[in-house]
Amino acid sequence: MLAMNKTKILGIASVAIMATIAVTSCKDKRSTGWEYAPNMYEHLAYDPDQPNPNFKDGKTAQKPPAGTIPVGFTTFDYPNTKEGLALAEAEVKSPLTESAANLAEGKELFESFCMPCHGKNGQGDGLVVAHGFPPPPSYSKGQSSRGGAMKDLTDGRIYHTITYGLNAMGSYASQLAPEERWKVIMYVHQLQKQQ
Ligand code: HEC
Repeated sequence: MLAMNKTKILGIASVAIMATIAVTSCKDKRSTGWEYAPNMYEHLAYDPDQPNPNFKDGKTAQKPPAGTIPVGFTTFDYPNTKEGLALAEAEVKSPLTESAANLAEGKELFESFCMPCHGKNGQGDGLVVAHGFPPPPSYSKGQSSRGGAMKDLTDGRIYHTITYGLNAMGSYASQLAPEERWKVIMYVHQLQKQQ
C-alpha cells in the first residue's frame, strides 16, 4: 500500500515537472519570461535613437540650442591662432591659489601626462625622447619655437598649449579638465625655476 503511494507520488511529481518544462520552454526564445514592472523593458520615454513625431526633423536626439553650454562646462574663447595665443597670454590667469595640495596634484598629473616627453624636471629629457621623439625645450633654459624664453611662459600661454597642443605635442584637452590643467600649470611654473 505504502509502495503504491510512493510510485503514485513520484508519477504525479514527474508529470508536473514535465508539464512545467513544456509550458515554459515552448515560448518565444527571445522572451524575457515573466516580467516584473514591464515599464522597465518597454518604457514610455523615447530612446535617443528612436524616431520622434514631436520634433520637426523626426529625431529624438536634438542639438542643443546655439550658444548654450553644458552645466559646469568651462569655456575657453581663445582660438588656436597666433592672435588667440597672444590674447590668452595677456588675459588668462589661473583661478587657483597656490597651495601644497594643488601643487601635489599638479605634480602627479604632470608625471602622468607630461613627464614622458618633458622629463621629470621639465628639461625635455623624458623617456620617449630617449627613444627618438623630438625633444621639447627645457622649461627653465630653453627657447620656445614660438619665441621667448620657456621660463617666461605665462599661465595663459601654457593653458593654450595644453588645450590645443603645439606641433609634435598633442592636445590634452580631453585628458585634463580645466582645473587639472591649472594644477599642472602651477607645477610647470615650479619647473621653470629649475637650475
Ligand atoms: C608627446 C610628447 C609631449 C607630451 C606628452 C607633452 N608635451 Fe609639451 N611639448 C612637446 C614638444 C615636442 C614641444 C615643443 C613643440 C614645438 O615647439 O614645436 C612641447 C612644448 C610645450 C610647451 C611650450 C609651448 C610654447 O609656447 O613654446 C609647453 C608649455 C608644454 N609643452 C607643456 C606641456 C604640458 C603641461 C604637458 C602635459 C599636460 C605636455 N606639454 C605634454 C612634447 C610633449
